[in-house]
Amino acid sequence: MESVKLTEKEFATFAKIVRERTGIHLEARKLSMLSNRLRRRLRALKLSTFAEYLHVLRDRRVCEEELPHFLSVVTTNETYFFRNEKLWDYIRNDWIPYIVEHRKRAKAIRVWSAASSTGAEAYTVAICLREAIPDFASWRVQVIGSDISRRVLEAASEGEYDEYAVAKVPQLRRKRWFDAEGEKYRVKDELRKMVSFKFHDLREPFPNANFDLVFLRNVLMYFDLSMKLHVLQRVVGALAPGGHLIVGDVDPIRHTPELNTNLTLDYVGPNIYRNPKAGRAKGIASLAEAVKA
Ligand SMILES: C[S@@+](CC[C@H](N)C(=O)[O-])C[C@H]1O[C@@H](n2cnc3c(N)ncnc32)[C@H](O)[C@@H]1O
Repeated sequence: MESVKLTEKEFATFAKIVRERTGIHLEARKLSMLSNRLRRRLRALKLSTFAEYLHVLRDRRVCEEELPHFLSVVTTNETYFFRNEKLWDYIRNDWIPYIVEHRKRAKAIRVWSAASSTGAEAYTVAICLREAIPDFASWRVQVIGSDISRRVLEAASEGEYDEYAVAKVPQLRRKRWFDAEGEKYRVKDELRKMVSFKFHDLREPFPNANFDLVFLRNVLMYFDLSMKLHVLQRVVGALAPGGHLIVGDVDPIRHTPELNTNLTLDYVGPNIYRNPKAGRAKGIASLAEAVKA
């Protein structure tokens, strides 16, 4: 099996399927990573060549069953509670008081964890909202997590996590928000009620969006520049006027002139942006032109 070589042509075909299905750009330098990981699928399916595996992916009858396995080989679903602790200080100490003041009449808040993976980010923001809004019972708070992988969405709805995922959750909070089940931690129903998960491809607009806060972290790096622009445009379009956008650790917007100059967003602080109250982001056509220029 180790001797089975992935040719450049086969790699290009796999990369094309990945791009079509997720928008993710697989760089040529990922060839040996991909061949190592795909060998495990070959073994599991008792196939001897990558060409046979491509045949499986092209076969309509088996493709839908195999595709999630194939895509999980190329995407990473890593996530955990309170990822990037400083950010959560900002959410608790700055953003929640801001939104409570701004929504005190409507008493409704909508948050989106885009590319949520197994849901730790969505539940983390739910914990923060639950803890930091004093008269929480009188508010309508909705947290939505979405992802392109149905496998991670199922796990997210289950709300069951291992020690790795909750490592940054202090003991008191673990007791408050999780039920310990053997080696696992299950999110309490009280929290699960606040959060729902749905399938969504970031390349598409999010229906009935109007979010006060959107997390878009640790996913943009898988897209090439024009796809980053496209996705960001969709996500900015999902923000309510004055809504905030949180991006990943290596801020893709501020450090990429094509994104920075072509998105109509106010810079709030590291990785944090705000949709201006009046006016929306520029059109997709003009962004695509900007990338080409
Ligand atoms: C590393 S996880 C990020 C999880 C979480 N946002 C965090 O920062 O902890 C990346 C997720 O992006 C999802 N993803 C990749 N392409 C996507 C697309 N086109 N639309 C929606 N989700 C996508 C993957 O399935 C994966 O679960």
